[in-house]
Amino acid sequence: MIIACNWKMNMTTETALDLVADMATQVAVTGVQRIIFPPFPLLAAIHMRVAGTDILMGGQDCHTEQKGAFTGDVSASMLSDVGCKWVIIGHSERRQLHHETNDLIAAKVAAAQSAGLSVMLCVGETEQDRRAGASDAVVLDMLASSLPADIDPTRLAIAYEPVWAIGTGQNASEAEISAMHNRIGGFLAASNMKHVPVLYGGSVKPDNAAAIMAMASVDGVLVGGASLDAHSIKAITDQSAPN
Ligand code: 13P
Repeated sequence: MIIACNWKMNMTTETALDLVADMATQVAVTGVQRIIFPPFPLLAAIHMRVAGTDILMGGQDCHTEQKGAFTGDVSASMLSDVGCKWVIIGHSERRQLHHETNDLIAAKVAAAQSAGLSVMLCVGETEQDRRAGASDAVVLDMLASSLPADIDPTRLAIAYEPVWAIGTGQNASEAEISAMHNRIGGFLAASNMKHVPVLYGGSVKPDNAAAIMAMASVDGVLVGGASLDAHSIKAITDQSAPN
């Protein structure tokens, strides 16, 4: 069971250090892995605070190259250098706002793994896809096209995040989550990747986390808004149990 916290473009050094200090006092259940994804400028300071705890740290994106003339970008090896073990790739906010394609995402996944990072690859359909009955096709195409041929499945997790559930307060129902997770599980099994964890993300809160995490097809949650608040993330972590 993975509890992943995507802080997106939020927090200051002070609020972030307070939050991780709080999280570090909580002993996570055995078999539950906590991972935080702070914005780039906070990574080095946070690494100093979480080193030696059970909390792992990751970046929210990386470039396809490890270094070079790419103003404003951050490479996977730079993330590794400041203590990251993970990186989120293909979040819907990057796919939509930065027009990231599956090809670009696959190249980023390859770069991240070659720098030694584990990858949390995000996939999910829009409201429009869902209304058109295209959710399965869209998600399966994202999976097939965003994974490079030489993927190391031992350093991979998939986060199913329906775009319409992100930041809306309207999480996908258990039936919707289970249907899509089973499809993703089928794809992974057919690709010799059946041990890859599949997380759910999209309006996960203390009042729905227990039910979502109890589902057999859910190996963790990727939490946005609720991960910024010490009480909420503690409440979510308290309800977790290893799958
Ligand atoms: P919310 O939990 O705020 O809906 O965000 C989910 C998300 O995008 C995590 O990556």
